[in-house]
Amino acid sequence: MKPVQVVTLWWVLLLVSRLGAARKGSPEEASFYYGTFPLGFSWGVGSSAFQTEGAWDQDGKGPSIWDAFTHSGKGKVLGDETADVACDGYYKVQEDIILLRELRVSHYRFSLSWPRLLPTGVRADKVNKRGIKFYSDFIDALLKSNITPIVTLHHWDLPQLLQVKYGGWQNGSMVNYFGDYADLCFEAFGDRVKHWITFSDPRTMAEKGFETGHHAPGLQLHGTGLYRAAHHIIKAHAQAWHSYNSTWRAKQRGLVGISLNCDWGEPVDISSPKDIEAAERYLQFCLGWFANPIYAGDYPQVMKERIGKKSVEQGLDMSRLPVFSLQEKSYIKGTSDFLGLGHFTTRYITERNYPSRQGPSYQNDRDLVELVDPNWPDLGSKWLYSVPWGFRRLLHFAQTQYGNPPIYVTENGVSQKLHCTQLCDEWRIQYLKGYINEMLKAIKDGANIKGYTSWSLLDKFEWEKGYSDRYGFYYVEFNNRNKPRYPKASVQYYEKIITANGFPNPREVESWYLKALETCSINNQMLAAEPLLSHMQMVTEIVVPTVCTLCVLISAVLLMLLLRSQS
Ligand SMILES: *[C@@H]1O[C@H](CO)[C@@H](O)[C@H](O)[C@H]1NC(C)=O
Repeated sequence: MKPVQVVTLWWVLLLVSRLGAARKGSPEEASFYYGTFPLGFSWGVGSSAFQTEGAWDQDGKGPSIWDAFTHSGKGKVLGDETADVACDGYYKVQEDIILLRELRVSHYRFSLSWPRLLPTGVRADKVNKRGIKFYSDFIDALLKSNITPIVTLHHWDLPQLLQVKYGGWQNGSMVNYFGDYADLCFEAFGDRVKHWITFSDPRTMAEKGFETGHHAPGLQLHGTGLYRAAHHIIKAHAQAWHSYNSTWRAKQRGLVGISLNCDWGEPVDISSPKDIEAAERYLQFCLGWFANPIYAGDYPQVMKERIGKKSVEQGLDMSRLPVFSLQEKSYIKGTSDFLGLGHFTTRYITERNYPSRQGPSYQNDRDLVELVDPNWPDLGSKWLYSVPWGFRRLLHFAQTQYGNPPIYVTENGVSQKLHCTQLCDEWRIQYLKGYINEMLKAIKDGANIKGYTSWSLLDKFEWEKGYSDRYGFYYVEFNNRNKPRYPKASVQYYEKIITANGFPNPREVESWYLKALETCSINNQMLAAEPLLSHMQMVTEIVVPTVCTLCVLISAVLLMLLLRSQS
């Protein structure tokens, strides 16, 4: 056993005893709330370009940092998988729109691939007309099916040339390059797209890209790189918003926001001021890091204090957290027409003071430990425990911290641990039911939630996890060259929530569940027949042509022999 695991185990045990003491009779999960969502509430599913499109070098697309990262050799991604083909979504637009219609969603959230539109990343170099046409046709097809596109400009796939030439998000020149790219998108698609998300989960982009190195570009610039990247991302977001606001808003009348992901942080001991502070710090270092500049004009006070103090103790003459000038603060403040929120799970938080001399790191700066309750169900990814009540608390936090902004839930969902061909995803159904219900409660609490995006439409390339974590409503058979999609039971269940706009009454909701599970076993049989189909595909594509060729050759030889014997 590695020491990290020992430490974790020890903390888990400690947590159990402390939770037992601190939470006797606390109303963790109040009863299920039957009711419906406000009229016009928008239901959708989401995805991102790199995770689904494939066609990584087709029709003039340039490489992204994720193409380079996945191609760069062993050990970066589980099973050394790439997303060169992924779900083959680039060639399956019509097919996937049928799935969206089957789900009866009112919106679809997807991202544009920056290097598909600008192969070098720079607008002045070259605009890829075929990239423009691909997304333009896709948007038209969605609208024709009455599905509102919610379009993310940047979901982690930075053009590789910007990384090579400038160091990507470490370099301030990204702000203008992103601004130019955003402007191109507003110009090309803004007549039809009315909901824009500048960045998706920039915290993970910064932390995994520049602190842990688990994501592209794979750098480990502990305690500095992530803050610098985030600084430039926030400025780039603001620039895109201003460009929309001054040039396009009057004509296009859309909304521009950002999508921030954060788990809920609950104090281990709700009677301990230190734990309460640590949990607050967890949220400020997660959500506040990006939301506070955008809603209040600067980084959270607690980040400025902690990182500043630790930087001095580490012998630096200035804070590792960059500083916004007065001008920048007022330029950034108020640059979101809505708040996009992504949320998956919850952590218990307790204080832990790390000595500054350990050296700079995000972990060291936060002075806290994240814990989980071993009683939480974790049937999906290892980190993803189902804790629905945390969602309501996060929504309430966002509502009160940022002046009750319009909120779009931009990501929420769960993966499956099972590798087998399992379409009866009761686990996802329970998660959906619990989390959507807590969102309904948050609306009753007064949160201004406009829409919900379940994550995600398809099983897809899950970054460093390869294809091992399946988040999709639709199962994708990645081993099959055609990447066929199969509906899981949750498709029916979510479709029922959407059609009823919530949870009308216990009898009906229970019947959805039973119906969904009935259908999935039939679909399971379809999927089980799939290996046979791909076998037949091999027969038609390899065996038949080979046999035919051989027949022709043999006939020719026989004919020659026949002719010889006659002469
Ligand atoms: C940004 O990139 C330019 C061009 O390569 C370079 O001159 C500059 O030093 C870079 N800035 C930083 C902070 O890396």
